[in-house]
Amino acid sequence: MSQNRTARLGLSGMATAAPGDPIVRALPADEFYRHGLNAEMRWEVMRDKGYTVPNASFFVRNHTSTPLIDAETWSLRVFGTGLRSAATAGHAVRFSYQDLLDLPARTVVAAIECAGNGRSFFASQQGQAVPGTPWRLGAIGVAAWRGVPLSVVLDRSGITREAVDVMPYGLDPDYVSGGVNYGPVRRPIPAAKALDDVILAYEMNGAPLPPDNGYPVRVIVPRWAGIASVKWVGAIEVSATPLASYWNTRAYRLFGLAYPARGTLVTTQAVRSAFELEWDARLPAHRDYLLTGRSWSLNGSIARTEISADGGRRWQLAVPRRRRAQSPWPGAAWQLWEFPWRAPGPGSYTLQARATDVGGVTQPATATFNTLGYQFDGIVSHPVTVA
Ligand code: MTE
Repeated sequence: MSQNRTARLGLSGMATAAPGDPIVRALPADEFYRHGLNAEMRWEVMRDKGYTVPNASFFVRNHTSTPLIDAETWSLRVFGTGLRSAATAGHAVRFSYQDLLDLPARTVVAAIECAGNGRSFFASQQGQAVPGTPWRLGAIGVAAWRGVPLSVVLDRSGITREAVDVMPYGLDPDYVSGGVNYGPVRRPIPAAKALDDVILAYEMNGAPLPPDNGYPVRVIVPRWAGIASVKWVGAIEVSATPLASYWNTRAYRLFGLAYPARGTLVTTQAVRSAFELEWDARLPAHRDYLLTGRSWSLNGSIARTEISADGGRRWQLAVPRRRRAQSPWPGAAWQLWEFPWRAPGPGSYTLQARATDVGGVTQPATATFNTLGYQFDGIVSHPVTVA
C-alpha cells in the first residue's frame, strides 16, 4: 500500500508485501491446486481429518498478495458517521493488538468459503463459460476462530442507533484490475449483522492467524460468502448512510437473465457437498471402499446427504458421521458423512453427492447461471477410475 493511502485512511501496522510469492505458506502439490494468487485445498487432504481444516491446509484467496504485518505496531482504527462523536472532525477510536487480546473473547467454529467455490463446473458440467478463478470445491475451510465479538469493539467505539453499515478495510495492497485502482479490499456488512455474530479473530484453531489467513486480525462473518470476512483488517468504517465498494456493487453480485438488471448481492453461502477423494481417483475393482465427504449450507445443519454412483438414477442415504467425541465444537459449519461403496468392474464412473439442509433446500441438478460464476450449488459429478 502506498504511504499516502496509509496516511489517508489512518491505517498503521508496517505492512510490507511478502517478497516474491503472493502466498507465504508452503503449497505442496499434493495438498493444493494453485490458481495464480490463490491456492485451493485438495479435498483428499480432509480424509481422516477432524472437524476443522488444519491451518497449513487451509485454502487461500488473495486479491493481491499477503502483507507481512507487525502486530506490535498494528492498530485498528474505527471511524465514521455512525459513531457518537462523529461530529468531531477526524474522530476515530484506536485499538492495539493487546487491547483486543484484553477484551472478552469468543470462539466461533465457522466456514470461510469463496462465493466462487465450484465455479469451474459452470463450464465443465453446464457448458457455460464464466470468468474468474476456476475452483473445484476446495475454496472452503472450517476453523475454530477466536477473537473479540465485533459488537464489543463497536460498542466501545460509540456506535449509534443510526448506524446502517459497517465496512472493514484490508491492509493488503490496493486491488487493480483493467488499469483501474479499486482501493483496499473492503465490503460493507449491515449493522444488524455486524452486531450479531461477527468476530474480529486473532486465533485460528488455537494458534495466531497464519499470515495468509489474515494475521494479525481478520473479520469472520459466519455463514456469509468469504469476501465479507476481510483479512488483515486495519480500519472499520461505521456509517449512518449505506456504503458502497467494488466488492458489493461490481463483484460478488449475481448478474444474468435470472436476476434484476442491477444484480443481486451475494451474501450467504450455498448448499454444497464434496467427497474427500482425489479428483480422478483410481480405486481397486470389486473391492469395498468407504467413501467419505462433507456437506454444508448457509442454514448450518444438513438434514441428509444422498449418494449416487450411477449417474443419478439411484440415490442412497449417506451415513452421518458423528463428530469426534473429544471435539468440543458445537459446529454446524459442515456435516461429515460416509458411504460404503463396492467398486464394480474396471471402468470410468462418476460419484455424486446431493445434500438437503434443515430448511428443505436440496442441491439441484443444474445451478442457476450468473455471469460471474458465483453460488454453484449443482450436484457435482466426481470422476473415478476403477481398475
Ligand atoms: N480480505 C482482504 N483484505 N483481501 C482479500 O483478498 N479475500 C476475501 C476474504 N477476505 C480477501 C479478504 C475472499 S474473496 C475470501 S473467499 C476469503 O478472504 C478467503 O479467506 P482465506 O484466504 O483465509 O481462505
